[in-house]
Amino acid sequence: MARRSIAKDTALVRQRLGNRPIVLVGLMGAGKTSVGRRLAEKLGIAFVDADQEIEAAAGQPIKDIFAEHGEAYFREGERRVIQRLLGNGAQVLATGGGAYMNDETRARIRAEGVSVWLKAPLPLLMKRVAKRHDRPLLQTEDPEAVMRALIDKRYPIYAEADVTVESRDVQHGQMVNDVIRALALWDGWERRAS
Ligand code: S3P
Repeated sequence: MARRSIAKDTALVRQRLGNRPIVLVGLMGAGKTSVGRRLAEKLGIAFVDADQEIEAAAGQPIKDIFAEHGEAYFREGERRVIQRLLGNGAQVLATGGGAYMNDETRARIRAEGVSVWLKAPLPLLMKRVAKRHDRPLLQTEDPEAVMRALIDKRYPIYAEADVTVESRDVQHGQMVNDVIRALALWDGWERRAS
């Protein structure tokens, strides 16, 4: 069977999406923000980064929220901000790595959006997270051990996302095409009419 062009798949995904958000989930370093930004551009919809919105709402960077108020406080703010953002219609919403672990957030994403897990191999995640030093969970002696533990804990939950796309060490544009192809092939659009 001839493969549809990426332009056709893009148009198809945009049309099927209707007024819903595409929500990107996955571990730190999976490429949610960089792929998400380009995906939104290609689909002609807004890009929103949940972490940035949390920082704007709190008036301080995430590392300071963790340091001053602790993780539980951050998670509560994260839950509230994502609930608000989900109501904003068609957009690509990149979430922080822990957001999808919250039961309520996950249920809302399922009810109101289409979720995509960007699943990257550990060496690629480590290469990417090494470039930034402001992620509070990784300010430890052994960030790789933390990431391994997060993989064990979170992967079974991330697997509940509607669509999984293997994140590879390729140009972001290629990843965007992979996400669009996967969404065009997704068989859940009808079941979850917009
Ligand atoms: C976190 C991931 C971060 C940020 C916070 C906690 C996590 O977002 O929300 O540092 O629990 O995995 P990114 O996944 O965008 O790095």
